[in-house]
Amino acid sequence: MRKFTVIAHRGVSGYAPENTLAAFRKALDLKVDAVECDVQLCRSREVLVFHDRRLKRITGQNGILRRKKLAELRKLDAGNGEVIPTLKEVLDLLDARCAVNIELKGRKMALPVASILRNSIRTGSWKLEDFFVSAFRFRELRRFHEIMPEIPIALLFAKKPRGMKRKIRLLKPFAANLSAEHIRPEWVKRVHKGGLKVYVWTVDNAPEAARLRAMGVDGFFSNYPDKLIK
Ligand code: G3P
Ligand code: MG
Repeated sequence: MRKFTVIAHRGVSGYAPENTLAAFRKALDLKVDAVECDVQLCRSREVLVFHDRRLKRITGQNGILRRKKLAELRKLDAGNGEVIPTLKEVLDLLDARCAVNIELKGRKMALPVASILRNSIRTGSWKLEDFFVSAFRFRELRRFHEIMPEIPIALLFAKKPRGMKRKIRLLKPFAANLSAEHIRPEWVKRVHKGGLKVYVWTVDNAPEAARLRAMGVDGFFSNYPDKLIK
């Protein structure tokens, strides 16, 4: 697996519209070691890079992404005239120049995402070790691991990391990603005891990063990765 400490959250979403090609281009400009993107399936079954279930916050339009076809979604403005990109477009742009954390949002993502990753590895510059996959939904993550066990897994927790022993046994994850808002020193210790690294989301300034470093965390998701990469 590649080495990284700072992961650009939703691309570099502090300086460009989140999860758009502009945000991933910015990540390349800043020479980040890793980016995170959120993926979901639309009605015509393409895997799109988009965070919310609803379109409103990002595009200003009503509706739910998974109920719309790609052609309809492509007409929407995802910020500064950017369109909602497909996962394939993002991977083609990045072209293995940084590691990629794919966060599965929604259900039934495991198979289509695995097929895109396999294809990028077969036909592009990508290697297995360039990717890692995470999801709040443990079932989806487990399903992905069953389909493509060679891709590293990071557990993802909104609050307390629960069921660690079972989850470690089933998925052999390399990391647990914890929320900066809720993190506690004893959780970091427990995750480390299980042999996993701890990455924290989302950390946007150096003093906060220093506070978390003192707690022993291994790395950060950041909307402003340049403020943390020193
Ligand atoms: O994967 C870390 C972080 O992205 C999880 O939260 O809501 O930003 O996808 P969210
Ligand atoms: Mg995410």
